[in-house]
Amino acid sequence: MNGRETAKIRLDGVGKRFRAKGDGETALSRVDLEIAAGELICLVGPSGCGKTTLINLLAGFERPSEGILEIDGRAVTGPDPDHIMIFQDYGLFPWKTVLNNVLFGLRARGVPKAEAREKALDALELVGLRVAADRHPHELSGGMKQRVAIARALAVEPSVLFMDEPFAALDAFTRIHLQDELLRIWKEKRTTIVFVTHDLDEAIYLGQRVVLMAPYPGRIQRILHIRLPEPRERTGEDFARIRRELFEEFHLVHKQAQDVSEYSI
Ligand SMILES: Nc1ncnc2c1ncn2[C@@H]1O[C@H](COP(=O)(O)OP(=O)(O)OP(=O)(O)O)[C@@H](O)[C@H]1O
Ligand SMILES: [Mg+2]
Repeated sequence: MNGRETAKIRLDGVGKRFRAKGDGETALSRVDLEIAAGELICLVGPSGCGKTTLINLLAGFERPSEGILEIDGRAVTGPDPDHIMIFQDYGLFPWKTVLNNVLFGLRARGVPKAEAREKALDALELVGLRVAADRHPHELSGGMKQRVAIARALAVEPSVLFMDEPFAALDAFTRIHLQDELLRIWKEKRTTIVFVTHDLDEAIYLGQRVVLMAPYPGRIQRILHIRLPEPRERTGEDFARIRRELFEEFHLVHKQAQDVSEYSI
């Protein structure tokens, strides 16, 4: 983001150490990052580089060991009903219908019944699942379940959406479809989205910026601004160029990680 915008999310020198046997482990070290309101930013990096730790800090599930972490200018001290996390395993209530799953968050926030029902149906419409409102989760495919989870999150109109590898368990076709759905919804709602993924192509396709992280200790290696003409072409030359650049950097990170783990054996 440029200096004229105020950051929606601001991390300044954020570090996280977990107490473990011995000295404990530095999961994140000196993370500086500003995320603009309405930005869709992707975090990528090898396993163990601290992606989940970082998103858990942002969501208020964990506290930083050091540094400043603010959303809307206020320190994050715990989970906030306005900041919603979507997990890889959907987190739906199996005994509730699709509609009641989406209604749950709204009712928990005290939205009156009739209004909640309307908002829930609108959210289901947005993800193309209004027709499945009366089904139960076990009657849905993985992709449909994740769309219900997205509808449930969007129904409460969060100001920030955190997504930790939300499409990782899905097959490639469903994943591509949901990426397009997410982009369409984001363009309509302009919710600030922090999206964690293992998949470099997914990060380049979705992100306005891609944050490449490195492990031992978890940190930011590089931030890429993705400036691609809209709509983005997965098979276009520009996409391929950015992909090459990111892969080269990723191989560097991967090699460093291997060197460290070989050294520590
Ligand atoms: N609760 C915890 N207690 C101790 N160590 C932890 C804890 N959570 C994470 N770690 C350590 O912090 C580091 C970062 O883990 P994290 O789960 O954030 O990585 P990740 O990038 O999300 O990995 P993956 O891609 O496999 O999901 C790892 O070395 C992990 O072992
Ligand atoms: Mg993780």
